[in-house]
Amino acid sequence: MKKYIQIAFLFTSLSLTACGSSSGGSSGTGASGTLSAGFAVNCASCHGANGGGGRGPALGGNVGSLSSFTATVRSGRGSMPSISSSSYSDTDLQADYNALK
Ligand code: HEC
Repeated sequence: MKKYIQIAFLFTSLSLTACGSSSGGSSGTGASGTLSAGFAVNCASCHGANGGGGRGPALGGNVGSLSSFTATVRSGRGSMPSISSSSYSDTDLQADYNALK
């Protein structure tokens, strides 16, 4: 009995890792410059390691003005959560804006 439970658990964790990250994702462009470490932590899971898109849209050349970029990040948009300056600093935000615009 115990063994079956362990095997079931193993399967669950395997399938979770399997569909984890297919980073870089779909089409669309990524950043032309280097993205911050904050981007890797806060954004890459949805927008791809290079901002090329995934669950969220590709960001290269698609960030609009600095103020709309800031508003999207700080307030969230659609299914994107808001991300505060305590986890993603203004410095990282500004640097990533420049790399993506
Ligand atoms: C949980 C997934 C997720 C995370 C994490 C996330 N985003 Fe998003 N992002 C989205 C989705 C989904 C959209 C599309 C929202 C919509 O328009 O409905 C989006 C939209 C955007 C847009 C607008 C793009 C456009 O087409 O106008 C920008 C800019 C953006 N995200 C930047 C960021 C940045 C920078 C971070 C990290 C600080 C981040 N996102 C983190 C999912 C995410």
